[in-house]
Amino acid sequence: MRFDRTLCYILLFALAVIVDGKELDATTAATTNNSVANGNVCELKQCSCVNSTSDVNGRYNHFVDCSHRRLTKVPLAKTLPHPTRHLDLSMNNITVVEKFESIEQLNRLSLATNGLREIDHFAFEQLPNLVALDLSYNELEEIPATLFNDLSELQFLNLSHNRFKFIPVELFKSNAFLHELNLAHNKIQFIQPDTFSYLGQLQILSLASNSFYSIATGMFHRLEKLEQLDLSGNDFQYVPTNALHLLKQLQFLDLSENPIRVLDMASFHQLTSILELKLNKMPSLVRIEKRTFSTLKNLQRLSIEDNPHLSTIDENAFVAMFDRQSISIKYVSLRRNQLSWLSEKTLPFFLNPLTFLSGNLTYLDLRQNPWNCDCNVRWMHYCHGAPEFEKDIMCSTPKLYSGQELVTIETKNLRCKSNQYNESHYLFFLSLFFMTGLFLSIMMLIFREKLVQFYGKRHRTNEGSIYYVRAQSEQME
Ligand SMILES: *[C@@H]1O[C@H](CO)[C@@H](O)[C@H](O)[C@H]1NC(C)=O
Ligand SMILES: *[C@@H]1O[C@H](CO)[C@@H](O)[C@H](O)[C@H]1NC(C)=O
Ligand SMILES: *[C@@H]1O[C@H](CO)[C@@H](O)[C@H](O)[C@H]1NC(C)=O
Ligand SMILES: *[C@@H]1O[C@H](CO)[C@@H](O)[C@H](O)[C@H]1NC(C)=O
Ligand SMILES: *[C@@H]1O[C@H](CO)[C@@H](O)[C@H](O)[C@H]1NC(C)=O
Repeated sequence: MRFDRTLCYILLFALAVIVDGKELDATTAATTNNSVANGNVCELKQCSCVNSTSDVNGRYNHFVDCSHRRLTKVPLAKTLPHPTRHLDLSMNNITVVEKFESIEQLNRLSLATNGLREIDHFAFEQLPNLVALDLSYNELEEIPATLFNDLSELQFLNLSHNRFKFIPVELFKSNAFLHELNLAHNKIQFIQPDTFSYLGQLQILSLASNSFYSIATGMFHRLEKLEQLDLSGNDFQYVPTNALHLLKQLQFLDLSENPIRVLDMASFHQLTSILELKLNKMPSLVRIEKRTFSTLKNLQRLSIEDNPHLSTIDENAFVAMFDRQSISIKYVSLRRNQLSWLSEKTLPFFLNPLTFLSGNLTYLDLRQNPWNCDCNVRWMHYCHGAPEFEKDIMCSTPKLYSGQELVTIETKNLRCKSNQYNESHYLFFLSLFFMTGLFLSIMMLIFREKLVQFYGKRHRTNEGSIYYVRAQSEQME
């Protein structure tokens, strides 16, 4: 029985060898070595391959996926089908990358998630047609200044999740067509101002989760096409406004997870092109001051979420310097902050809470804040029926309403203790008026005698005789 099985395996194996037309030791070497040896990686089923005919010449393009194969080495060029357009070597165990052999027409190469530690200074020299290169999720500490010298077609470069502390100033000098550069999740503190000066076509840049605390003023000088910038997860204590305002096309800005305490009118000064702004998870943010967003005339989406100490947003934070109506915001989330109070005047479309629906707003989220349910949140109650408005607003204070949904409380019960604000002003002036009247009346009573005398004298000097005659006639009666 056991003998039959073994025989069967041998026969099958021999058959496979005959079919493949390969030598037996090449195949076994490849499997026991956990690396790719001679023979086509597709035929040997070492990688999964997909092909398609290209428009030009009717030739085949091959997309070779060698991910998750426990490779320790880059496959030899002759083991790849020709021409290989995409080569995915991610999720393997290739810790050292030597110079790649020429793989003609290779467009996309991924070496992501390999535990890569070392890379040849000219590793990609013979891959001049690379458009996308992914070196993310590795353990690289240094990046050779010459590494991308020959990649003049490169458009997408992912260097995120490594251990870089330093980016050589000439690293990108040949990559004028780079569209997207991801340097997130490294340990970079500082980049020399000229490093990005070759990247006139760059549209997306991520410097997220590094150790930046400032940015040289001229650093973004040449990035005329940059649209998206991610600066989240760094050590910025202030918005690097001076560097940012050189980015004339900037549409998306993420400043989340930075230790910024206060945002004010200087923070986003003149960043008029921004459409979307993220200010989430800031551990130190306590206050957003007046006119912080005033110059963001094109802002459409604003996310201020998960800021555990943010308790104050000035009611004039959005007031545009010149034209209050020109802000065309569509999406606002103020979820999970520490707000207990928000004036109905804060958000520009709330000039009149009942008519804001006619504006451009499609989403408003105020949930999970410790709202103080008094007369100041009545406007939220009015908004409750609107489809754009996220429901489930819970009250935190006063005690009576703690944990209760705002919508379940009648508006007439949303009262302010001392009738502050509008009503108190009214009462103040009313009582002032009353008191003044009372005071004048008392004064008139006290000084009546003197007034009578005074008028009496005046009358006597002018029309004394008439006065005298009347008094006499009264006495006679
Ligand atoms: C691993 O492969 C190489 C050729 O790439 C071969 O020379 C070597 O003998 C193989 N090692 C083992 C243990 O099979
Ligand atoms: C393309 O792939 C198919 C299987 O999907 C295979 O049969 C065919 O031989 C391949 N063509 C080339 C030129 O490799
Ligand atoms: C990767 O290879 C190294 C030796 O080169 C080995 O120690 C390690 O366990 C391997 N890791 C995986 C995930 O296979
Ligand atoms: C690296 O960045 C590119 C975009 O530039 C992206 O398509 C790719 O998925 C990223 N790699 C990983 C492993 O996330
Ligand atoms: C809505 O947005 C457009 C531009 O996106 C703007 O022209 C228009 O004035 C906005 N409407 C209101 C009511 O804000």
